[in-house]
Amino acid sequence: MNALTIKSLQTELANKNPRTILKKALESFDNIAISFSGAEDVVLIDMALKIKPDIQVFSLDTGRLHSETYRFIEKIRTHYQIDIELLTPDRALLDPFVKAKGLFSFYEEGHQECCAIRKVEPLTRKLANIDAWITGQRKDQSLDTRQEIPEVQLDTAFSTDDHPLLKFNPLLNWSSAQVWDYIEAHQVPYNELHEKGFISIGCEPCTRAVLPNQHERVGRWWWEAGKKECGLHAGNLK
Ligand code: ADX
Ligand code: SF4
Repeated sequence: MNALTIKSLQTELANKNPRTILKKALESFDNIAISFSGAEDVVLIDMALKIKPDIQVFSLDTGRLHSETYRFIEKIRTHYQIDIELLTPDRALLDPFVKAKGLFSFYEEGHQECCAIRKVEPLTRKLANIDAWITGQRKDQSLDTRQEIPEVQLDTAFSTDDHPLLKFNPLLNWSSAQVWDYIEAHQVPYNELHEKGFISIGCEPCTRAVLPNQHERVGRWWWEAGKKECGLHAGNLK
C-alpha cells in the first residue's frame, strides 16, 4: 500500500463513524487483527464480529494485568465464543530483567524498560505477521498525545522497509460517553474495574482509579511527569 492509497483511505474515512471505519478496514485487509486491552475497547470486538465473524483478536498479556482484567478477557472469549491470542513476553529478555531489577523498577526508573519487554517486544513480533491492526485509541484519552491521530495511518513505529503496516483507529472520534452508550445499548460485557473508579485500564501496578472529574490518563503511570505513552503507540510522540 503506497502513500497515495493511504491518503485516499484517510480522505474516505475522515470523521466517519466507528462501524464504517471498521468495515473498510476489514474489507481492505484479510490479515488484520484487533488489539484488545481488556477495557472498553471491547466495543471494537462487538462491532467487528457482526462484520467478520472470524476476526483475529489479540491481547498483550504482560503478566501484570489485574485479576479482574484476566477474568474479563476470559469472559469475552466465552461470551463471543472467539479465540483471543494472548501474547506473552520473551523469557530470554524478561527473566534477566526481573532478576537484575526486580518487579517494580518502573517506580524508580520509569516505565519504558518494563513496557519495552512486556508490551512492545511481543507486539512487534505479532505485528510482523499481519498487514494491519485495529486499536481502540481515542482522541479524548489523552489531551497531549492523541489529539492528532487519524482514522487510518501508516504505523511508522512498527513498519519496516519490507513490511508496511497500517493502523486503524475506528473509535478515535468517539467520546468516552459514546463508548459507554454503546456498551449499555448493546449490553456488551465490561471489565468490573470500571465499577471501582477505573476509567483507563493498563497493568495493575501502573494504573489507579481516578477521582471525580480527573482526566482518565491521570490514573496511568501517575508518578511520572510528561507525555504518557508506553510504546504501543510510539508514533503519537513527536
Ligand atoms: S496504552 O498504550 O496507554 O497502554 P491504552 O490503554 O490507552 O494504551 O489503550 C489504547 C489501545 O491500545 C487499546 O484500545 C488497544 O487497542 C491497545 N492496547 C493497550 N493495551 C493493550 C494490551 N494489553 N493488549 C492489547 N492491546 C492493547
Ligand atoms: Fe511494566 Fe507497568 Fe509497562 Fe505494564 S505498564 S509493562 S507493569 S511498566
